[in-house]
Amino acid sequence: MSIDNIVAVIDFGGQYTHLIVRRVRDLEVLSEIFSWDTTPKELAENNVKSIIFSGGPNSVYEKKVPKLSNEVMEYLLTNNIPILGLCYGHQFISQYFGGKVIPGNQKEYGSTIIDINNNDHLFKEFTEKSKVWMSHGDKISELPEDFIITASSDNCEIAAFENLGKKIFGLQFHPEVVHTDNGNQLFANFLFNISNLKKNWSMESYIEHQVEEIRQIVGDNRVIIGVSGGVDSTVSAILLQRSIGDKLHCVFVDHGFMRKNEPEQVVKYFKDDLKFKHFYKIDARKEFLEALKSVHDPEEKRKIVGYKFIETFEKFEKVLVKKFGSFGFLAQGTIYPDRIESAQPSKTAAKIKSHHNVALPEKMSLKVVEPLKELYKDEVRKVGRLLKIPSELIDRHPFPGPGLSVRILGDLTQDRLDTLKEVDAIFLEELKKRGEYNNYWQSFSVLLPMKSVGVMGDSRTYEWTVVLRSVDSVDAMTADWSKIPYETLAIISNRIINEVKKVNRVVYDITSKPPATIEWE
Ligand code: XMP
Repeated sequence: MSIDNIVAVIDFGGQYTHLIVRRVRDLEVLSEIFSWDTTPKELAENNVKSIIFSGGPNSVYEKKVPKLSNEVMEYLLTNNIPILGLCYGHQFISQYFGGKVIPGNQKEYGSTIIDINNNDHLFKEFTEKSKVWMSHGDKISELPEDFIITASSDNCEIAAFENLGKKIFGLQFHPEVVHTDNGNQLFANFLFNISNLKKNWSMESYIEHQVEEIRQIVGDNRVIIGVSGGVDSTVSAILLQRSIGDKLHCVFVDHGFMRKNEPEQVVKYFKDDLKFKHFYKIDARKEFLEALKSVHDPEEKRKIVGYKFIETFEKFEKVLVKKFGSFGFLAQGTIYPDRIESAQPSKTAAKIKSHHNVALPEKMSLKVVEPLKELYKDEVRKVGRLLKIPSELIDRHPFPGPGLSVRILGDLTQDRLDTLKEVDAIFLEELKKRGEYNNYWQSFSVLLPMKSVGVMGDSRTYEWTVVLRSVDSVDAMTADWSKIPYETLAIISNRIINEVKKVNRVVYDITSKPPATIEWE
């Protein structure tokens, strides 16, 4: 980007840190997350002109909790960089300048009304009372000198403070969550009135910039990219094609676990519609099926699919190198949340399941180019729309890397794979036909390793059971089962039983995440 200003969000470990970045970008200002152990050098190099401190799970009065260094605080003050602290960030500011933070008598979670007593600056355009979202145990009991209270709630006298001279503001609540009224107005006040920032973030400018930047980074080199038919790799490939044209080589590994007709659609789209010159489909269906024969353990399956993918890709790269000479770069569809997740693996979090996403570079010793690495999923979709990628591809429900292999419990055979593909195709086709597909975040089917008795015509049947699963979610971290109308479910169930030979029972999964995960394996 033409980075004339950037808003740093300091991550103190809060669960809403990502949302702060999103709020700022939604106001068309570039924002990125920085770790709490950032340095003045890093802030200067990135042209940070305004800073927001996130919330966090710790107590500022404890030892060994995340804190910004004195050097960073000095840097911010000397350069007159406006600071907005939220929750833990608000308490950190207070403690740093000599105020006092104590455990609250009463923890405060949920909606609260605050009384605003100064709406000249951060609360400009706010009325006297406003609904906000609180989530804290500690609170500030004494403010540092020269700071004044700008809002209070029944439970929390210092719900907001300011030190106008130093351009420092603190909020005990979370303006980044939707439950706080006028959160966007508050961020707009901070960014445009207090920090005097310019708008510098739009998808159009992002595309232009990326196309130019890729050209410069890549130079005369050839680039290889693995495409899966998913949004991220498709958008990346199209950006690269715009930038470097035929120097891009796309490799599509067909592991056989995609949905019905999808591999054909991917090939048609890249070769016929987009006219990619170097597009290769590798048919590895047999090898993958063979490798997963009799493997029932979900983790084992995911690992095998991952290794097999890398092996297949690498083998083919060698073939291409023989023909064209070596590649300088490997392009990847990494998006912003992928980077955050891999940069900050939680040491205490239990491993639920390993997600298979292609991570090829280390072994291949290629330089990596990641055109989407600053974007969130919905931003990638916006870029895709601007690049005129058809909506059926952009708005496609999420699909796991190992595909249908983790939706077939028990033996993974060609026969069972074909059965599930048919079931899934009917499910999705009906949802689309009835205009319901986009009402749900993700819809799919699962084939169980059990048969049950049925009766069709005058005969007894003994066939497989399939599960339909549809969930509503925002970020896949939590999900609720979708309330698909009974009428729709009835039509889908009827069609499945009538059209798919080896299935005689259809059930609907009514479990949320947690306690279940979205996928069954
Ligand atoms: P779970 O089952 O963990 O799934 O609740 C959360 C979301 O992630 C998708 N998923 C994957 N995505 N590679 C991916 O790219 C994977 O290996 C993988 N496994 C699950 C899942 O479909 C859901 O949307």
